[in-house]
Amino acid sequence: MDLEKTIENLGLVPVIVINNADKAEGLAKALIDGGIPCAEVTFRTAAAAEAIQRMVKAYPQILVGAGTVLNVEQAKKAVECGAKFVVSPGLDEDTVRWCQANNVPVYPGVCSASEVQRALNLGLKVLKFFPAEANGGVPMINNLCGPFPQVRFMTTGGISTSNLAEYAACPHVLAIGGSWMAKADMIENECWDQITELCRQAVCAVHGFTLAHFGINAENPEHAEVLAKGLSVFGLNPDVGRSSTFMNKDIEIMHQNGRGVHGHLGFRTYNVDRAVAYLSQFGFTVNESTVKKDAKGRMTFCYFNEQIGGFAIHLVK
Ligand code: 3PG
Repeated sequence: MDLEKTIENLGLVPVIVINNADKAEGLAKALIDGGIPCAEVTFRTAAAAEAIQRMVKAYPQILVGAGTVLNVEQAKKAVECGAKFVVSPGLDEDTVRWCQANNVPVYPGVCSASEVQRALNLGLKVLKFFPAEANGGVPMINNLCGPFPQVRFMTTGGISTSNLAEYAACPHVLAIGGSWMAKADMIENECWDQITELCRQAVCAVHGFTLAHFGINAENPEHAEVLAKGLSVFGLNPDVGRSSTFMNKDIEIMHQNGRGVHGHLGFRTYNVDRAVAYLSQFGFTVNESTVKKDAKGRMTFCYFNEQIGGFAIHLVK
């Protein structure tokens, strides 16, 4: 899988300021335990290079990149230490060119149309949008993606679990970065459980699962009508479609051949591809014949092959 797909599936990139490389292994484990095997270790401290080295050595499954890379020297150093990608707060053409020449994914920071244009002319398509909140957040990203629809952003700066939903739902946002999941003092004080818990909360927030509707299986269209009438006494109004009838969007009566022994549960999520990747670690596999995609090839709907308690499960964006 390419790196950008991996980053998109994770959806979250903890931005790390680490002052003591002895904390590297503990930090890596705390992130992994919290469900985010990824970090952008910033070159704001002298310990960064060694920390990257120690994180990837102890936990080869973690994806570690270098952040706050300001020049070619730092980019070289980061890659030597095992960084798999390079992030900068701004756009330095020498650093970008060195990374490109050495096949190192590089995400320079931009926050204006002129900078996006410069980055595009350097052949880049994934950029860091920084500082995100101070520069207008998702409305600004949507505006930038009018003239630059091919660009996707890693957004950082002022984002946390409390305001990440809008970013998670934005198709132009590849992933959300931030320091809130593992702050410098938490690392210094070895607050590993706290970091793990903050990561878990962030993972929940990035998917934003909510129950979209409950599905009932009718035997045939006539039976579906009978069921709809039965439910209408609760004040639910039928909206009859081709294959199902929705009752106030909350209950879907399948006219026939409904999935699931007893019916189905439809869950809404911000990014179906990302949710599928997340749920695969719990054994869910996509029923390929049910997949729907948008014009850009991103999944908007899918059933899983597995059921819970006799209920089929589907995701919908
Ligand atoms: C970065 O380097 O991306 C930012 O410092 C992270 O911003 P935050 O501290 O507001 O999350």
